[in-house]
Amino acid sequence: MNNQQSWDQEYQKSKLITQSHKPQKDFLRFIKWIKNNKHIDLYSDITVLDLGCGVGRNSFYMADNYDATVHGYDFSSDAIEKANNIHGHELVTFTERNIGKPFPLDDNSIDIILDVTASNALNEFERGIYLKECGRVLKPGGYMYVRTLAREGDKNAQKMIKEFPGPDYDTYKHPQLGVTERIFSGPDFKEMYNQHLEVVRMERKTGYQTFGKQSYKRNYWNVYLKSKE
Ligand SMILES: C[S@@+](CC[C@H](N)C(=O)[O-])C[C@H]1O[C@@H](n2cnc3c(N)ncnc32)[C@H](O)[C@@H]1O
Repeated sequence: MNNQQSWDQEYQKSKLITQSHKPQKDFLRFIKWIKNNKHIDLYSDITVLDLGCGVGRNSFYMADNYDATVHGYDFSSDAIEKANNIHGHELVTFTERNIGKPFPLDDNSIDIILDVTASNALNEFERGIYLKECGRVLKPGGYMYVRTLAREGDKNAQKMIKEFPGPDYDTYKHPQLGVTERIFSGPDFKEMYNQHLEVVRMERKTGYQTFGKQSYKRNYWNVYLKSKE
């Protein structure tokens, strides 16, 4: 089963994701940071790209609260179907797409890019395209938020890499989810992303992944990036 089929299965019968409609908490902190520092006027007809949007909880938040035009991409047809059935919003469009393929968007057309725990499932070839595309479509003065898996201090990730190694560097095939995921050391993340964007803030946070009754401690990066000058 490939990553796309594993995610479809997850949306049909959830073991991991809550399918909650509440926006992700660390993403909300990023939006508050943008607002408090006046990096972008969120009320100025902005356009948001939500990569790996799932059922669209963060996309709807941006459209409902800031009248943002939002493009949500996800390769799971089940996620897109659920997102479209939630409540619909004239400013939000969900499309079934792999975020590791070129985006059908103009250069410098996006104010904010969101990647809330999605791109860690890309393979290295796809990641190269995703990074280049994010750098291309983000407007000068635009910002990106990435929440992804951290290598540092994550014993469960180290265990999975040893027991269920994936084909690429720092990857494992998640035993419950079936998805191949990459974890990132801080220096590896910065080196990769700084080629196309500029990392302006990076913090590591502990969270929990719950499968049925089992809870696993995981470490995540919350990264704020801006367009390259
Ligand atoms: C952990 S869920 C997060 C969903 C959403 N960002 C949220 O915060 O609710 C990860 C999502 O990324 C999507 N995804 C993973 N790899 C993808 C890819 N290569 N292209 C498009 N979507 C992908 C999955 O289908 C899934 O919906």
